[in-house]
Amino acid sequence: MPSYGSVQTTTQANSRTSWNIAAACVAAGVCTVMYAAVANQSQALYASPTVVGQTSTVTSGFVAPRFNNVGRPIGASTFVPQGAQRTSGDWNEDSTVQMKATQEPSTHLMDLGLGCLIAAAMAIGYKMGLVSKGPTEQTSLDWSMAAVADGNTDVEGAAKTLPGIAARPAGYKHEVTDGYQLEEVSRPRRNRRTPAHRAFMRETHMVPANFVAPLFIHDEDSDQEISAMPGCSRLCAASVLKEVGECMAEGVNFFILFPKVADHLKTPDGRQCYDETDIVMRTIKLIKGTYPDAIVCTDVALDPYNTDGHDGIVDPETGYIINDITVEQLCKQAVQQAKAGADIVAPSDMQDGRVGAIRDALDDAGFTGVGIMTYCAKYASAFYGPFRAALDSAPGFGDKSTYQMDPANAREALREIELDEAEGADILMVKPALPYLDIIKLLKENSALPIAAYHVSGEYSMIKAGAAAGYIDEEKVALESLLSIRRAGADLILTYYAKQASKWMNDPNGYWQSKIKGKL
Ligand code: PBG
Repeated sequence: MPSYGSVQTTTQANSRTSWNIAAACVAAGVCTVMYAAVANQSQALYASPTVVGQTSTVTSGFVAPRFNNVGRPIGASTFVPQGAQRTSGDWNEDSTVQMKATQEPSTHLMDLGLGCLIAAAMAIGYKMGLVSKGPTEQTSLDWSMAAVADGNTDVEGAAKTLPGIAARPAGYKHEVTDGYQLEEVSRPRRNRRTPAHRAFMRETHMVPANFVAPLFIHDEDSDQEISAMPGCSRLCAASVLKEVGECMAEGVNFFILFPKVADHLKTPDGRQCYDETDIVMRTIKLIKGTYPDAIVCTDVALDPYNTDGHDGIVDPETGYIINDITVEQLCKQAVQQAKAGADIVAPSDMQDGRVGAIRDALDDAGFTGVGIMTYCAKYASAFYGPFRAALDSAPGFGDKSTYQMDPANAREALREIELDEAEGADILMVKPALPYLDIIKLLKENSALPIAAYHVSGEYSMIKAGAAAGYIDEEKVALESLLSIRRAGADLILTYYAKQASKWMNDPNGYWQSKIKGKL
């Protein structure tokens, strides 16, 4: 809390200040009185001139002060005859020195010294409580800073403690060295002092328009909650429209559809994916019919439609996912989705050459305006678990590591960027997001295309579970996660928190608005 400039600390600083003033005054007073006394004495010793312009001669060697070449005393010498200046001779030898009076010898030094001693007495008196103590300027400054920080405007009365600061036991004193101070010129905390400082220092910004809302859809009359993803449901048609409307009201305009396909429609080649009556095609038309300004994006992959739960066609002999005939299916899927009105298609299958093939297929069908958001660096991740439970799309055997990337690899992503860019991708995606912030940054630094990151189901459900157990603050952890993904370089974030995060961020009395307005 920035309000540690509490009364205790400040009072202690003030008491130290009064002791310091007292000590300085005593020292100054004593020195001045001694100086005045000695100077007067040396005036007598040297018989120095006391009338301006008058010259007299003294014998050097007694005190031997050191002078510079214009006759000014240097070093610690205090034995300069008052008002006199040497005009010839050398102090360092036993010689005769000519001096000329240049000013009246000070008769005020003794008075000055006594003044200092009186000041010292007053400082000590203040310390002992003999002089009344009003709140000092420093105290009120610290109080007002603390008040701003805590939203507490009641700054009257030095005896109050700030909310949240534990009362100190009577007679408590910090066990620290009085006046300890680092010789530190550069202090980053200066720019973090107040909410207003922190608001102007903020480097990363995030708005609902950065989010893409994934929607789970199914061919049922009502919604079905997804137990592995609390707060998410497979939606019926009516709920899809409601959800899109609510998201758009918060400023989320971008949606991506994931279908739960009935078992009887699944085949080894996933041909249902390009059936024009498929649930995805119907849902695109439904959304665009009601919300023509919504950006509707589709997932291009076979896994929801494939009896094997893989993103491509499986060789029954080897279990290998056959790249090129899979790509042929994906092209048909993408073109059918474009026909239904999809604005962007998102191949998530990680087959080689699919971005170029899909681009050609779309262009040949006249859909030059339909974009491709490619899952460019999609890892074979265990964080997809809840999603596969949601769609009942887990692979029937093995895993996806013959086509998705190894979590150990980063440089390999550079090859994927190069290929996807050359093949005509419009947006590059990294997936998952939070465990792969370095990959988001790598893509951002190596491409001029917009970068998307998928905050996947496992990342979402972990926050939900931690919050449900009371271990973490859901709102703050979710927003911090999303902000970190933005900071790493994501322009777009696909997240199941899209609507909820936008509500938190748009709440005029919420934590997020207070931060960006410089109040927290
Ligand atoms: C399937 C697909 C997956 C996700 C998006 N599209 C799962 C997978 O690759 O197995 C995962 C999304 C999530 O976990 O939130 N092509």
